Amino acid sequence: MKRTYIENLAEHIGEDVTLHGWLYNKRSSGKIWFLLLRDGTGLIQCVVAKNNVPEGVFSDCDKLTQESSFRVKGKVRKDDRAPGGYELDVADLSIYSISKEYPITPKEHGIEFLADRRHLWLRSSRQHAIMRVRHRIIKAIRDYFDGQGFTLVDSPILTPNASEGTSTLFETPYFDLGNAYLTQSGQLYAEAGAMALGKVYCFGPTFRAEKSKTRRHLTEFWMVEPEVAFNDLNDDMDLAEDFLEYIVQSVLKDREKELKVLERNTALLQNVKKPLPRVTYDEAVEILHKKGSAFEWGNDLGGTDETIVSEQFDRPVMVHHYPAAVKAFYMKRDPQNPKLALAVDVLAPEGYGEIIGGSQREDDFDTLLERIKEEKLPEAPFEWYLDLRRFGTVPHAGFGLGVERTVSWICGLEHIRETIPFPRMIYRLTP
Ligand code: 4AD
Ligand code: MG
Repeated sequence: MKRTYIENLAEHIGEDVTLHGWLYNKRSSGKIWFLLLRDGTGLIQCVVAKNNVPEGVFSDCDKLTQESSFRVKGKVRKDDRAPGGYELDVADLSIYSISKEYPITPKEHGIEFLADRRHLWLRSSRQHAIMRVRHRIIKAIRDYFDGQGFTLVDSPILTPNASEGTSTLFETPYFDLGNAYLTQSGQLYAEAGAMALGKVYCFGPTFRAEKSKTRRHLTEFWMVEPEVAFNDLNDDMDLAEDFLEYIVQSVLKDREKELKVLERNTALLQNVKKPLPRVTYDEAVEILHKKGSAFEWGNDLGGTDETIVSEQFDRPVMVHHYPAAVKAFYMKRDPQNPKLALAVDVLAPEGYGEIIGGSQREDDFDTLLERIKEEKLPEAPFEWYLDLRRFGTVPHAGFGLGVERTVSWICGLEHIRETIPFPRMIYRLTP
């Protein structure tokens, strides 16, 4: 018989189906077993009555431990009281494997205990919901850019140079060529792509040897980076707000069930619509001072500063025109005030902080070379990047959205470690 998935049972009411999955829970009332089966797409209660099944099946139910795998055949019945809304009247059952004592039980476990068992923890309903939201976010990212005529241009992971400062580089020996670095961002390559294809994005894992043990930092995270030829900072912000609205509204539409499992208050997410508020760095500093902070002009906004600023708004806020000194070498300076960079950070509400960082790029050859020298970056590995300013340079802009920070915010999580199947942090490399 054809395999059916629990999420499609509405199409099979009254029919005989075969389901395959794992035991989530069970209870018995003497002559009846109630088996809660999960198959990765949902949960269903399977009702096994002793008189309705072949010999041996009823006693097999006795053997089923949590996470034992089995297959059941039966008729689908609608039952509004049942978890998931359906029940299966079982006609037959066969076991794939009896699970050894499963370590993750319905009782509370410590976070390190669960993190050590991440490969199993993924089966729990909250983690299942988070992975489903993550996938929907990633699909929205791809759909958005593909639908707007962007071309995906993959950037390399092994690179000869830094793009986001030299303090967070992972290094690895590279044959006879010295050392390679794991990419911190695909942006520089996306810029080359934009000069070839106009509107591009790269999307892949990026790496930062971050020493920070915060709820927002991973050492390996996924970033999507659009880059558009002839865009300026304002165009960049227009793109960022349209993109964010699309992501959040797509998740709200298609992941209602999962957000409910996560007990996410979605009222604030409903607000994520254009236009997003835009404030300059100077205005952000004013907000901080008004709220009693001793923040000094010229510093980068820290986590707490970001929270104070974003609390003033009911949706993500874009902070632009940061002091150039705290931003990356490739950002274009404001022609009106060279102390400022044409940079933008998008801060998520509810204390989730920066989810997008972007800028208009320095497109002048001499200025860019000067910046590279100022930052004491080695020039040779940037020769190809300087070529983009030698051969038909144009204004251009782009940004990077961190997938895991976005998942954390949309799901309303306390810590970024739950947003990626297998998190990598300063103190965690396994499983
Ligand atoms: O602000 P960042 O460092 O910007 C760049 O890398 C630019 N090259 C992007 C571009 O303009 N194409 O990083 C962009 C985003 C941040 O806003 C944040 O969401 C995420 O990447 N991010 C991290 N996420 C998890 N863990 C970390 N350690 C992160 N560092 C940055
Ligand atoms: Mg940033």
